[in-house]
Amino acid sequence: MRFLVTAGPTREAIDPVRFLSNRSSGKMGFAVAVAAAARGHVVTLISGPTSLPSPAGVHTVRIETAEQMLVAVREHVPACDVLIMAAAVADWRPRQCAAQKQKKEATASTLELERTPDVLQSVLPLKGARVFVGFAAETEHVLAYAQRKLESKKLDAVVANDVSRTDAGFEVDTNQVTLLTPGAPPDTWALMPKSAVAVRLVKWVEALRR
Ligand code: CTP
Repeated sequence: MRFLVTAGPTREAIDPVRFLSNRSSGKMGFAVAVAAAARGHVVTLISGPTSLPSPAGVHTVRIETAEQMLVAVREHVPACDVLIMAAAVADWRPRQCAAQKQKKEATASTLELERTPDVLQSVLPLKGARVFVGFAAETEHVLAYAQRKLESKKLDAVVANDVSRTDAGFEVDTNQVTLLTPGAPPDTWALMPKSAVAVRLVKWVEALRR
């Protein structure tokens, strides 16, 4: 199958030296890309800024902003069978990016923001028979919020994780997730390395397509 995987945070510029972003390291998305490639799939990885090297055997596209993520995902969705949106796309960006570094004496204490595009929502019309999987990074009401995402974004699955834990979610090498799928009870997986979560997720997609 042809997998399209997104990973990492996006960065939304305030001025040439400052930005809004989040704590995503890209580790989960990169692990999914690596697992899919190792299982013989053709993989394109679209990644926000991370310190991770491009995985061997994976076509990696580096982007910075939510807008660029949208453009790249739109371009690659038509040629994919499976979209796995592990990226932590920033929901807000500064309304304006200053051309020069802003000096503290001349800067307002408030920043005017506008919404970024919702990448998954925007490519929903292209879904067809493709498998779409989202991630839900939450700090409270994890399953309830993830269930809402499953339904509102009409996904085949949502991988829910509690990012307030120190052994799961952002930055660390392990994850503890619950897989939510339409019409089935939540499937809670044990704490395991992100590489193992990734293999299990890829196998789940393979079983769904079989
Ligand atoms: N997502 C996206 N575009 C955005 C925000 C999120 O495509 N602008 C995707 C993420 O990649 C993830 C899923 O939507 O697969 C859920 O992301 P999340 O940030 O948890 O949820 P939101 O829909 O942004 O809702 P909220 O921030 O209110 O929790």
